[in-house]
Amino acid sequence: MHPVTKDAPSDPRDWTEEEVRARILGLKSRLGRDLLVLAHHYQRDAVVAVADAVGDSLRLAQQAALATARHIVFCGVHFMAETADILTGPGQSVILPELRAGCSMADMATPDALEWAWQRLTAVETGRVVPVTYINSAATLKAFVARHGGTVCTSSNARKILEWAFTQGEKVFFFPDEHLGRVTAYELGVPLEDMLVWDRDRDLGGHDPEAVRRARVYLWDGFCVVHQMFDVEDIAFWRQKEPGIRVIVHPECPFDLIRAADAHGSTEYLARAVDQAPPGSKWAVGTEVNLVSRLAARNPDKLVVSLSPHQAICANMYRTRPLSVLRVLEGLAAGRVENRIRVPEAVAGEARQALSRMLSLS
Ligand code: 13P
Ligand code: SF4
Repeated sequence: MHPVTKDAPSDPRDWTEEEVRARILGLKSRLGRDLLVLAHHYQRDAVVAVADAVGDSLRLAQQAALATARHIVFCGVHFMAETADILTGPGQSVILPELRAGCSMADMATPDALEWAWQRLTAVETGRVVPVTYINSAATLKAFVARHGGTVCTSSNARKILEWAFTQGEKVFFFPDEHLGRVTAYELGVPLEDMLVWDRDRDLGGHDPEAVRRARVYLWDGFCVVHQMFDVEDIAFWRQKEPGIRVIVHPECPFDLIRAADAHGSTEYLARAVDQAPPGSKWAVGTEVNLVSRLAARNPDKLVVSLSPHQAICANMYRTRPLSVLRVLEGLAAGRVENRIRVPEAVAGEARQALSRMLSLS
């Protein structure tokens, strides 16, 4: 049993972190195997502390696909909970503790804008184009790629997925993250001049038909506001201040930054690189600050710093507080499923095909 302070203030907002945590743990033991709490690496420490599993987008999608619990509380953002709902069975519910936790990058590609772009692109004589959506996208976009013979990728399997896509067609339409698409295609040998940034607000992405015909990779002009904060000058700063420091960054960062860094990879990759490094090693990490601070705290024998002097925080991930988790657990304990994320079956059926393809290629 986890003790709950008897004389706790009546307004939950006045409860201490320990009080909230004790209540969450108490409800978790009550709900037992009916409950699985998943958390993304960018969640705040107090949320990560009550999760059953923590991971990157791919790992969490895999966990959801394997889950047997009736209720999955997903501490992350909306597209992640949608993905989990698509991958779980009809008797399972996926709950997002804070419904306003979206992803600004995912919002940069709407189904209408994508349909328009696709119609205009395929009206030009381009050869076979394979659409690939980053998992940071709405379920409707995942359904779209399934309809057009494409698939989904995450930051940890993007290379394998693009390799596969180039076996299916000569060209790839990658959305919504321009940066992940560019660095992955480049590392597969596609020269930068064969890639074209697709301006989502302009006809043919702002290009003439000949340029569209020539290109091999079309990159939707979406980006992550958090990963835009890092600068090549930050790398120079740390290399000068801490000789021998290793600079590792997330592939949502801009291309020149990724090229200047020592390595890049998904949040899972970044965490593993630091955790498994020898004592005394030094790391400047270009990703969301909650993960970087946690890595620094659990690796006191290493120097771990954020690459940026700015607070590179994902405001959407940060919306989820321990109290948000507590509220949905209280609902479950009282028989109420609150904040459920449900993708309509007409969309989920197609999106599932694209996600299953991704999981089997991962
Ligand atoms: P990962 O797949 O690396 O966890 O990234 C998800 C994300 O949203 C990063 O901004
Ligand atoms: Fe979206 Fe960027 Fe936040 Fe990831 S860090 S969830 S891409 S806004």
